[in-house]
Amino acid sequence: MDANSMIKAARKSAFGLVLIVAAAGAVPAAAGGEVRALAVPIPSELPPGELGKTVALGRDIVNHTNTHPLSRQYVGNNLACTSCHLDAGTKPGALSFLGAASAYPTYTPREKQVITLEDRNLNCFMRSMNGRRPPNGSAVSVAIAAYITWLSEGYPVKMSLKGPFGPNASPSLNIDEDDGDVPRGKTLYGSACANCHGSDGAGVGKFPPVWGSQSYNDGAGMASDLKLATYLRNTMPLGDPILSDQDALDIAAYVNAQPRPRFVLQEHLGSGK
Ligand code: HEC
Ligand code: HEC
Repeated sequence: MDANSMIKAARKSAFGLVLIVAAAGAVPAAAGGEVRALAVPIPSELPPGELGKTVALGRDIVNHTNTHPLSRQYVGNNLACTSCHLDAGTKPGALSFLGAASAYPTYTPREKQVITLEDRNLNCFMRSMNGRRPPNGSAVSVAIAAYITWLSEGYPVKMSLKGPFGPNASPSLNIDEDDGDVPRGKTLYGSACANCHGSDGAGVGKFPPVWGSQSYNDGAGMASDLKLATYLRNTMPLGDPILSDQDALDIAAYVNAQPRPRFVLQEHLGSGK
């Protein structure tokens, strides 16, 4: 099974179980995810009391990061976490949060240090959200970490040895990142993407921007053509991901060749650390 039919099979599986099957040999060298055979139900009931309220708050923030009163001050664009981590991080193959908490703390080569799940979330504020890093232990940070930990119930703790990725991180496409054909990507973008994301990349209505001042900055994971291509291959066009690996890479190369905010670490650290 390829990644896509795996995902489709997972969607169809009964009882709301997400079945992520390790297809030995068929899976290219993972960007990070150690693909593990797991069938873990997505939790449906919030924990009782204050804990449940905090988990629900975290879910709310993930869904409305750029407008929520607690988080919007830390966001510098028109994105929410769920713009990329689809369905608030519950969609397999779309940067899912399922199980992610089980992989941390872990070492990250980018920051050259051991980071916690909180740190991982806060780094997405600096880069993907082109904003400022909320302080560790702030209400925003605790709520998002509580939400992702709730989505990880039932996963055995296994600190990742392959960087900051959970057990359901999508394996990277097995394709040479430098082979993206920008002119071809432009044509494909026009036919497969522009009706939702705009021919100027600024997004249309509720559809989010993919370049320009309101998009992710050039220090974000998505600014890597390979990571963006892997994402597009698994998720876009939304609801009908039909791109070939090469289509996805060509479109990614085109999208990432367009203007977007520049990432300068010092401007994004906030008061956290
Ligand atoms: C523009 C798209 C985008 C947005 C918006 C975004 N992320 Fe991410 N996120 C990514 C990408 C891409 C990765 C994988 C990064 C990599 O491969 O380096 C990632 C990885 C992560 C991971 C690690 C997942 C794992 O498997 O361990 C967490 C946790 C995370 N993001 C949290 C968040 C939170 C919380 C927000 C909102 C505050 C957010 N992200 C917003 C693109 C995004
Ligand atoms: C039918 C409309 C639709 C089409 C067509 C579509 N997308 Fe999307 N895309 C979305 C929506 C909606 C989201 C955000 C999901 C959410 O907020 O729940 C999204 C999210 C994204 C994201 C992550 C968030 C961001 O804005 O950076 C990227 C990147 C992206 N799409 C690129 C593409 C590319 C490239 C194509 C063409 C191959 C494409 N999309 C086709 C609707 C669409």
